[in-house]
Amino acid sequence: MSHKVAILPGDGIGPEIIAEAVRVLDILSAEYGLAVEIEQADVGGTAYDAQGQPLPDSTLQVAREADAVLLGSVGGPQWESLDRPLRPEQGLLGLRAELSLFSNLRPAILYPQLVDASTLKPEVVSGLDIMIVRELTGGIYFGQPRGVRTLDNGEQQGFNTLVYAESEIERIGRSAFEIARKRDGRLCSVDKANVLEVSELWRQVITRLAEEYSDVELSHMYVDNAAMQLVREPKQFDVMVTGNMFGDILSDAAAMLTGSIGMLPSASLDRDGKGMYEPIHGSAPDIAGQGVANPLATVLSVSMMLRYSLDEAALADRVDAAVGSVLDSGLRTADIASANTQTVGTREMGDAVVAALQPE
Ligand code: IPM
Ligand code: MG
Repeated sequence: MSHKVAILPGDGIGPEIIAEAVRVLDILSAEYGLAVEIEQADVGGTAYDAQGQPLPDSTLQVAREADAVLLGSVGGPQWESLDRPLRPEQGLLGLRAELSLFSNLRPAILYPQLVDASTLKPEVVSGLDIMIVRELTGGIYFGQPRGVRTLDNGEQQGFNTLVYAESEIERIGRSAFEIARKRDGRLCSVDKANVLEVSELWRQVITRLAEEYSDVELSHMYVDNAAMQLVREPKQFDVMVTGNMFGDILSDAAAMLTGSIGMLPSASLDRDGKGMYEPIHGSAPDIAGQGVANPLATVLSVSMMLRYSLDEAALADRVDAAVGSVLDSGLRTADIASANTQTVGTREMGDAVVAALQPE
């Protein structure tokens, strides 16, 4: 049976990096029998320019009908002054919500070849392998009411609502416990239970769930401390689980430990394992169109897609190995370059990955 993959290149460097990921899918189908049907659609600012909406119905349709979605990136300065519902980010948030992609997996892995790219000391980060599990369809990102209102004194007041129902906490908790079980068996739940009622409930529900996962060692940490521990001693963590906004922030911090946000993929999954895959870096408008962006996070997103949604773990291993061997060969895009490496552009990096995937 053929896998249906929706490809949404989006804005900025999105189209350039997605093009390299598509070449990886192409060689997997040409050489390794991957049966894949690709359909492309617009999202983000590009979709707004072409169709007046960051998430056109036709795009949502393509995404719904696919087994998995591969997304480049959205956003750019030219769309920042649009009304909020028309901004590129709404394309992303709309896909997450409409497809119920509540479980966001953000690995932060330090490739041994890139240990010098980190701003932290090698002994602090070498061997780093953390998985952040971020709740993605609830919390303050989606809570109602929200808006800007005028107070009696004429002053404006902005407001958002942080809400989590037990069932939402339980399902993201299960995702995280299941993942921890397949890794080192340690889960750290991050909250702000010393201040927020929502977090108190979060902690109760996660603690209750732990009874079903006695093989996983659960700990709890306040988010401010977690941010500090991530830069102090990041290797203490195996899996972290947290709400939408804390996860947004902590995952950027964790990404930077690895030296390059240009290396990190992500998966956003629904309850049945359907998923959307994207590099965790943004659209990088400053370098868009120059052919210098790092395509490896997107290539590694293809690997996650093969593993988590398409049930093609052996091919995922091949892609991971190809990326490893390209790094071994000393090729680097500008974002991960260091002394004694050879700097190449997006296309050359894609060429190298494709070459590494050629059968002997
Ligand atoms: C991310 C991004 C998004 C988020 C933005 C672009 C809406 O920062 O995926 O982490 O805040 O979730
Ligand atoms: Mg973010």
